Amino acid sequence: MALRARIIGTGAFAPPRVVTNDEMAKIVDTNDQWIQERSGIKTRRLVDYEGAMSTADMAEHAARGALERAGITAMDLDLIIVGTVTPDLRVPSCACILQDKLGAKNAAAFDVLAACAGSMFALSVADKFLRAGTVKRILVVGAETLSVITNWTDRSTCVLFGDAAGAFVVEAGPEEGPGLIDTAVYSDGSTWQHLYIPAGGSKKPLTPELLAARQDRLIMNGREVYKIAVRSLVDAARKILEKNGLTANDIDLVVAHQANLRIIEAVADRVEIPLERFVINIDRYGNTSSASAFITFDEAVRDGRMKPGSKVLMLAIGAGMCWAAALYRA
Ligand code: ACO
Repeated sequence: MALRARIIGTGAFAPPRVVTNDEMAKIVDTNDQWIQERSGIKTRRLVDYEGAMSTADMAEHAARGALERAGITAMDLDLIIVGTVTPDLRVPSCACILQDKLGAKNAAAFDVLAACAGSMFALSVADKFLRAGTVKRILVVGAETLSVITNWTDRSTCVLFGDAAGAFVVEAGPEEGPGLIDTAVYSDGSTWQHLYIPAGGSKKPLTPELLAARQDRLIMNGREVYKIAVRSLVDAARKILEKNGLTANDIDLVVAHQANLRIIEAVADRVEIPLERFVINIDRYGNTSSASAFITFDEAVRDGRMKPGSKVLMLAIGAGMCWAAALYRA
């Protein structure tokens, strides 16, 4: 029997500390108007101070919500996949630490690194496992403590990011009915230098000098990332719609990675899906990387915008550059 991956429970978590643009203006030379006009961000949620709450801590909160709504326990999970670039430790994976926290003793666990597209890459991997009939239930998580890799002296990046986690419980079900219709993943490694962390890996292990120069923090060429993001997301959206015999008119809801409101507006315009059909929360959370698409999906489930039968287009892009699209029937 052909199988389809159904999202049977969603969960989201963001740390309680709300940081306004006016507060950011006390840290770097910026202002509320610039941030809102260029990004759409009004507030972001940040962990209290570096290390106070880890990525796996936030992932656990989101995962417990998703498990509860799915009506299953952690022991029912066969696999845990976490998309993150900010794991608790370099080794082992964030997924293994999450497995331990949840007591998911029957699951295998691993991380996927595709930056802001990490959760969508993880969802695509989960879809393949479930369609193959190899496993029955997978916890897919996008979780990120971006504040620990943000350069808090660089005004062009630090105003954009937030911390959060989102989780899906995905289960194999019959081909007809709700579930993932299709997923697609893409990368263009030739663009990696537009968004990266220079030091801390095997190429440039950290030294006190590199730390002092903040080479363990994100560097971004915002203008290039903007152009690649719009071009790639539009291309991915068109391809997945065409492949599945759908048009923009068939899409009820778009759940896109909240990188920047201007990117979302440009994609909406070019794909010809009205902006009202995009779920938007960047104003409240900022760019939460791999958590973004999942907390946005969860919000649409909770506020009733995602109705049974809704056709949902999901899109995400991140460093690499890596980007992904998915079609989901609610
Ligand atoms: N406050 C005030 N002024 C600022 C700030 C700030 N926070 N940051 C930059 N500026 C200044 C710059 O110094 C520059 O000043 P200058 O003209 O005197 O040199 C001016 O604003 C314009 O800077 P640009 O970088 O050209 O601004 P731009 O209009 O391109 O906006 C932004 C910057 C928002 C980052 C934009 O390039 C963008 O949206 N890029 C997309 C990248 C993105 O969204 N990344 C998210 C992470 S990646 C991901 O999720 C895939």
